[in-house]
Amino acid sequence: MSSSSHVRVELESGERREIPVSKDARPLTDTLAAYGLPLNTRCGQRGLCHGCEVLLLEGSVLIDGSEVHAPATVQACRAHPADTVLVRIPARSHIEHRPQVGETFEIAVPYAHQPLFRPVPGRRDTAFAVDVGTTTVVVLLTDLVTGEVLSRAGAFNAQIRFGDNVITRIDAARNPENLAAMQHSIVMETIQPLLLRACELAARPLERIAGGAIAGNTTMLHLLTGTDPTPLGIAPFTPRFIAGKLLTAGAIMLEADGLAPETPLQLLPGIAAYIGADILAGVFASGMVFDTSPSLLVDMGTNGEIVLQNGGNLTACATAAGPAFEGCGLRCGTRARNGAVSDLLVSLDPFHLESATIGKIPLARANGLCGSAYVDFLASARACGLLRENGRFDGAAWQGIPAPNRLTDDGELALSLTGSNIHGALRISEVDVALLLQAKAAIGAGIDILLETAGIGAADLGCVYLAGGFGMHLNVAHAIRIGLLPGIREDQVRVVGNTALAGALLALLDHTTLGKMEKLRALVRVIELNLADGFEDRYIDHLMLP
Ligand code: FES
Repeated sequence: MSSSSHVRVELESGERREIPVSKDARPLTDTLAAYGLPLNTRCGQRGLCHGCEVLLLEGSVLIDGSEVHAPATVQACRAHPADTVLVRIPARSHIEHRPQVGETFEIAVPYAHQPLFRPVPGRRDTAFAVDVGTTTVVVLLTDLVTGEVLSRAGAFNAQIRFGDNVITRIDAARNPENLAAMQHSIVMETIQPLLLRACELAARPLERIAGGAIAGNTTMLHLLTGTDPTPLGIAPFTPRFIAGKLLTAGAIMLEADGLAPETPLQLLPGIAAYIGADILAGVFASGMVFDTSPSLLVDMGTNGEIVLQNGGNLTACATAAGPAFEGCGLRCGTRARNGAVSDLLVSLDPFHLESATIGKIPLARANGLCGSAYVDFLASARACGLLRENGRFDGAAWQGIPAPNRLTDDGELALSLTGSNIHGALRISEVDVALLLQAKAAIGAGIDILLETAGIGAADLGCVYLAGGFGMHLNVAHAIRIGLLPGIREDQVRVVGNTALAGALLALLDHTTLGKMEKLRALVRVIELNLADGFEDRYIDHLMLP
């Protein structure tokens, strides 16, 4: 490579940038990230996903020692520019798009106004609650005197560049430098700017912050505190800490002008390695422990955590659902964000597609499909006969689809939504459907096992609380139709939003919350699904589309 090589970058907006390339052997992802163009490195830059794909328009790159010439689509995490190159970053690969962050929630539990940190009105009377999600992070500001929510701010977790799920981040943390970098990226690249934004929105100076409360899954709280999370990645999956923890801003290196280093920060307690403080906060804030009939809490994130309350007893499991319902690993999958297709109905005779995108972006400019659209598609395609029970396209129905909507170019059948859009054809392939069915089967089998263990059926549930961001956008009727919530009726389901954030807020407003959460933690029985009788059979049953 010559010493004056450049990466010329073309963004979807038409904006162009020119970035000098250093002589070190950094992959294209690192070069772009260093100049403020982070890509979606969802597999932790291991070459296993499509998240970091860019279009090589001019020049050539080296991939595993072989030269690849333009035009080509390349994984930026494996590509090293051989000379000056021109690349286009598709919107789906560019992580700067604003996520749809779950900032709303329902609190269904009585609480007293007795703040965790004693307020001094007008001087130290403000506190912040944080939900540290694997994908998104939300900071909420509250007035400790009035209990009023003052502002909220959300963004992607900047740790995404180390991988989009907890397993890849645990793997990355084996290297102490990465562990330190991941702590810095959640504390100073994510929470600190969000806190500043929330303070600005509420017109509250940081000097008035009396403290914070933080919820998150067990891995996120380990990384936040700079604690080695590697024991969470291997059996017997023992967390280094799981009880609530009182720290200071200085201890996690949260720094900002006006924020005292001794500002107290309360981490909420969790339950186990894969059932974290975010879920316990949800169990508490949803009020399910006070339900007189059995109830279920389902959080359909990557780990698909499920908690059953029956007669006051709590059992919980985490399903290895994977991130398919967050759009990850799918040909045109994307997280819920501006420009993503969020609703999608297909019908036959005549063939018709009906869709909606977040931000009302025209379909021709949509940057992918998010989980709710895939659920809609599975439900409607099965209902009209386009998909068979096993998730494959029905031969006769397939032939009836207009030719521009049928794709076979990747050696697999795929339905094209657009024929072609500016990002290439938006499509749903049989491989995508298989991955979605695996995620559905993991959650469906987890629900079955919890119910069977308690000796009750889905009809006995008084309420099913759907927690987390995915639940907010989901068409519940379609989720039920495809068997994602097996045997459950629509009238049983209550969408409760970001209950992790709700739990953190409750901890700030009522200091007795923490003690109650600690007691709850000890009451939850965790079921290891891989050891549960009948799990495999249930999983296989749920691989089918009803
Ligand atoms: S293939 Fe590059 S980040 Fe996954």
